[in-house]
Amino acid sequence: RILILDFGSQYTQLIARRVRELGVYSEIHPWDMDAAALRAFAPKGIILSGGPESVTEAGSPRAPEVVWSLGVPVLGICYGMQTMAVQLGGAVEPGAVKEFGYAEIRAHGHSRLLDGIEDRVNAEGHGLLDVWMSHGDRVSALPEGFKRIASTADVPLAGMADEARGYYAFQFHPEVTHTTQGTRIYARFVHEICGCGNAWTPGNIIEDAIAAVRRQVGDGKVLLGLSGGVDSSVVAALLHKAIGDQLTCVFVDNGLLRHQEGDQVMQVFARNLGVKVIRVDAEARFLDALRGVADPEAKRKIIGGLFIDVFDEQAARIEGVDFLAQGTIYPDVIESAGSKTGKAHVIKSHHNVGGLPEHMKLKLVEPLRELFKDEVRAIGLELGLPAEMVQRHPFPGPGLGVRILGEVTKAAADTLRLADHIFIEELRRAGWYERTSQAFAVYLPVKSVGVTGDGRRYEPVVALRAVETVDFMTARWAHLPYELLDLCSRRIINEVPGLSRVVYDVSGKPPATIEWE
Ligand code: XMP
Repeated sequence: RILILDFGSQYTQLIARRVRELGVYSEIHPWDMDAAALRAFAPKGIILSGGPESVTEAGSPRAPEVVWSLGVPVLGICYGMQTMAVQLGGAVEPGAVKEFGYAEIRAHGHSRLLDGIEDRVNAEGHGLLDVWMSHGDRVSALPEGFKRIASTADVPLAGMADEARGYYAFQFHPEVTHTTQGTRIYARFVHEICGCGNAWTPGNIIEDAIAAVRRQVGDGKVLLGLSGGVDSSVVAALLHKAIGDQLTCVFVDNGLLRHQEGDQVMQVFARNLGVKVIRVDAEARFLDALRGVADPEAKRKIIGGLFIDVFDEQAARIEGVDFLAQGTIYPDVIESAGSKTGKAHVIKSHHNVGGLPEHMKLKLVEPLRELFKDEVRAIGLELGLPAEMVQRHPFPGPGLGVRILGEVTKAAADTLRLADHIFIEELRRAGWYERTSQAFAVYLPVKSVGVTGDGRRYEPVVALRAVETVDFMTARWAHLPYELLDLCSRRIINEVPGLSRVVYDVSGKPPATIEWE
């Protein structure tokens, strides 16, 4: 396994994913990881990430000294290269500004890491690679034992190596897709230089997780809040395989779910897989609680609070529960962990153990805690969940509650569900569902005039929204073909009663958010 020490780069998670895609387990830990914990992790190789700080400033982060005494290969990226240089006796000079961009690097001499990896070869026979570079501080003198292995027009020391110790470093980012040979560079590092195999596959992940759950749970009983979302669905399938009937799922149908979503959840889990699922039909309670409430944050609070109440009532009825399972995934853990100086660990707020009655004192089971979303999807498929469920776009906890603007009513929810279903069905048919990150319909409580046949309509409007995004922090609206929008608009107006008009949202994030509330 590979240890990644995080100096705060926005690309650290990408490094971990690249390594895992190569079949090698990797974990991200803060740069100031405890020396004993680092030894206990027993890495076969260590990667030092990039970071926003400057090694030329007093008090800036350094890799723990133990890194250099384990006798394992080390790869430094950007800041990781600079800290490697200063810690091993080289020098770094400050850059005026930090800039990112394309660069062409030229390989120098021979190195186990780069030999034969190139996009082109120049007239003198040197390998050339297109890379994603971060300019800023740069290494100005190599530490003893190192040689130069890469340069660019601006940066004479863009890569260095001490082959005897297996230490390598680059000023550019091989984990970013713009570095076209990046995956080959990581493959060379983890497989050949560190000697890692490629055993991190969905089948093995499942086997390991099942063994770990059985060890943790023994013959105890486990409770899971099943929402129909990807993470809780995969937890349910995994736990069912591991401990069968020791698992009970509670599925709260709040009446704010997508078209036929509740029935699908029951079909897949209760009927097909034989999972014990208690479906709580709480639509009326949610709609009652939401009556007359128009403010988005007030609606969120009501829906979140009532969910916990309903879930707790069910949980209290089940005898002898020892554990609560949660679909926490690796990005939640890394984002909330940080370095010792960073933020404290917080659990995802929605299906939160904090809401359970004090006397239950449940221990947590989090079998996806070490997995990235793409790995969760891969094991979901391997466990036999339908692709449609596993590849589904994210859906907010408050559901249609925040997609019906203003007051939520059953009529509006029914109308919206149908319009949304048609939109998604046509996106899937046209091959656009996979090309968008999130797509849905929004119910606008403004009335507009329309005509159908001889009749005049004065009805609400539905807005369609489809976005492309990597991290959901920024997003661009999807440039869907006009013909597809036209088809969705005509089907929605014809098939869904009580609507006058369909509009398409062409706002990016920022300035707009993805949801309308
Ligand atoms: P925004 O609207 O903030 O959405 O651009 C970003 C992502 O977060 C989801 N979202 C939520 N998820 N509870 C959730 O579980 C919420 O209250 C909530 N609000 C927004 C949204 O669907 C998008 O994927």
